[in-house]
Amino acid sequence: MSRKIKIGNIMLENDLILAPMAGITNLPFRLIAKKFGAGLVTTEMISAEGLCQNQKKTYEYLRHTPEEGLLCAQIFGSEPEVVANAAQIAIESGASIIDINMGCPVKKVVKTGAGGALLKNLKQAERIMKTVKKTCNVPITIKIRAGWSSNIKTALEISRIAKECGIDAITIHPRFVTQGFSGKANWSIISEIKEKLDITVIGNGDIFDAEDAINMIKKTGCDAVMIARGAIGNPWIFRDILDLKKGNIPKTPSLSERKEIMLKHFYLIKEFIGEKRAIRYIRGIFIWYSKNLPYSSYFRDKVTKIRNEDELMMLLNKYFLYLKKLK
Ligand SMILES: Cc1cc2nc3c(=O)[nH]c(=O)nc-3n(C[C@H](O)[C@H](O)[C@H](O)COP(=O)(O)O)c2cc1C
Repeated sequence: MSRKIKIGNIMLENDLILAPMAGITNLPFRLIAKKFGAGLVTTEMISAEGLCQNQKKTYEYLRHTPEEGLLCAQIFGSEPEVVANAAQIAIESGASIIDINMGCPVKKVVKTGAGGALLKNLKQAERIMKTVKKTCNVPITIKIRAGWSSNIKTALEISRIAKECGIDAITIHPRFVTQGFSGKANWSIISEIKEKLDITVIGNGDIFDAEDAINMIKKTGCDAVMIARGAIGNPWIFRDILDLKKGNIPKTPSLSERKEIMLKHFYLIKEFIGEKRAIRYIRGIFIWYSKNLPYSSYFRDKVTKIRNEDELMMLLNKYFLYLKKLK
């Protein structure tokens, strides 16, 4: 059954959330995820310092259209006032929910005391949460990992603090910061937080198809699921989950639908950043879309060499015609 969930005073259409992904969840990608049924979409992580310093590129991350519905903006930073000011800027640009990044393992971020570093500096994390909560009049969420490392398992403790600070929901990706993406996400940590605390819990980690999503909900009792890698080149995962929840078998996208979405993605990117940058950008994205298709290595090889829109069209037409003939 599809469930509606509430984050603070905001009711989401369903319990499926597109995760923040740097370099991926820009406006075009979010529009596509929304089209396939995501109940909430999230920006990539945005530097609080960058927003407060009025950096043009940082502002680009906040571009938003009403078509994408509710927008959650994710902010990273280490100074309470700076994060709160940035959150306010994001709200003025159209964000309905603010998420504070407390899990990013990227060195550049961690060395400033932001992202995952906050999982070993709970006092600072608390100061940030309190200040943002006091300053901003929209629901505030945090996104954490299991802790800094297997010796610093702070997920439950920071969740308790978050609850006391009035944070409206917690997303947990249950791997340690030091783990990066290795090993499996330990879903039992999601269950533990859900059992021990009365707070909205969003489970994240290793959902690659509709069954994974249903399993996570069943096993952990989480209120919503958040999907990252499983949506890249596979944005219909949201539709698949909604179908499976209704008891229907998810329909694999036909070749023509897949091609249509790839084209749509390209055109949206082109509108967003112009043809030249779009061509460079879409090469990587199209590799994800071709994953698991026959002769994808041929496509991968060719797509990395395309130089303009005409070459892109020629390659797509040729590849999909070939796939059709294989059927
Ligand atoms: C390319 C990429 C970029 C990411 N960028 C962010 C980010 O900006 N902020 C964040 O909180 N997490 C980021 N993540 C982590 C994801 O949001 C998510 O927590 C993680 O990938 C686990 O979920 P998954 O198993 O569904 O991929 C990123 C992950 C990937 C693969």
